Amino acid sequence: MAVLDQFQLEGKVAIVTGAGSNLGREMALALADAGANLVGVGRRPEPLEETAKMVRKKGQEFLTLPTDVTDSNAVDVMIQSAISHFGQIDILINNAGGGGAGRGKTLPELTDEDWNDGINVNLSSAFFCSRSIIEHMVDHRSGRIINVASGWGYRGGRNQFMYPIAKAGIISLTKCLAMTYARDGIRVSCIAPGAFPHELGPETEARGQMQAAGRFGFMNEMGPLAVFLASEASEYLSGETVLIDGGAIAAGVTPAGITPSS
Ligand SMILES: NC(=O)c1ccc[n+]([C@@H]2O[C@H](COP(=O)([O-])OP(=O)(O)OC[C@H]3O[C@@H](n4cnc5c(N)ncnc54)[C@H](OP(=O)(O)O)[C@@H]3O)[C@@H](O)[C@H]2O)c1
Repeated sequence: MAVLDQFQLEGKVAIVTGAGSNLGREMALALADAGANLVGVGRRPEPLEETAKMVRKKGQEFLTLPTDVTDSNAVDVMIQSAISHFGQIDILINNAGGGGAGRGKTLPELTDEDWNDGINVNLSSAFFCSRSIIEHMVDHRSGRIINVASGWGYRGGRNQFMYPIAKAGIISLTKCLAMTYARDGIRVSCIAPGAFPHELGPETEARGQMQAAGRFGFMNEMGPLAVFLASEASEYLSGETVLIDGGAIAAGVTPAGITPSS
C-alpha cells in the first residue's frame, strides 16, 4: 500500500469524547478529513452540534451522544448506542478531561470531592470508555484506542495533584491496555499535548515565547497526529505516548506553581 494511503480512514468510525471543543473538535475534524464517520461525546449537546455541522460539511456522518463520561452506566449506554447505530466502532479517542478540580488549593485544603472529581474526569472516564468498548473490539479483532494525557503526566507541580496524577495514570493505562490486547489486533496509544491555549492573543503570544519552540501549540496541529495513531500507518505502534509540545518536556523546564488552567 502506498504510504499516504495508509493514513486513510474511509469506512472507519471513531468515538471522540470531548468532541465539542478545542482539541477534541480538531481531532474529530481531522479524522473526518481522512474519511471517518464520528460519534461525538460530551455533557453539553450544543457544542457537539457545532462540531457535527462542521463534520457533515465535509460529507461525513456525525452522531451526537451527550454523555457524562464519569458515569460508567451512562458510558455503557453511549457505547452500545454507538455500536447499534454504526454496527462497528473502530476507534475510541479518550480526550475528555480538564484541570479545574481543586485548582489552587493546598494539600490539606483538598477535599475528597476535589480528588474524586479530578481523577474521575481525567482517568476514570478513559477507563470506563475503554472497558465498555473492549469486547466489541476483541470480537472484531481490531480497534484503536487513543488516550489524551498531558505534559503534566510527566512532572509534578506546586499544589497540583489530581491533574498530573490522573494524566500519569492515563500514560500507564495506555501501556496496560496495549499489553493486554496486543494479540487481539488492538492498538493503544496516547497523545500528551503541551500547552494549546483556547484563545490566542498578545498575552498568550508573550507567554508562548518562553516555550522551547518560542510559541504555544495551535489547535489544528493535534489533528494529523490523531489520524496517524488511528490509521494503519501506525499499525506496529502500541503502548506509546507521543508528546506534542514543541520540545517543552525535552527542554526540562518545569513551570513550578502554575496550575493547569483548562
Ligand atoms: N489545551 C491544552 O493546553 C491541553 C494540554 C494538555 C492536555 N490537554 C488535554 O486535552 C484534552 C482536551 O482539552 P481541551 O484543551 O480541548 O479542553 P476543553 O475544550 O475544555 O475540552 C474538554 C472537553 O471534555 C468535555 N468534558 C469535560 N468533562 C466531561 C465529562 N464529565 N463528560 C463528558 N465530557 C466531558 C467537555 O465538554 P462538556 O463540557 O460539554 O462536557 C469538553 O468538550 C483534555 O483531556 C486536556 O486535559 C489539553
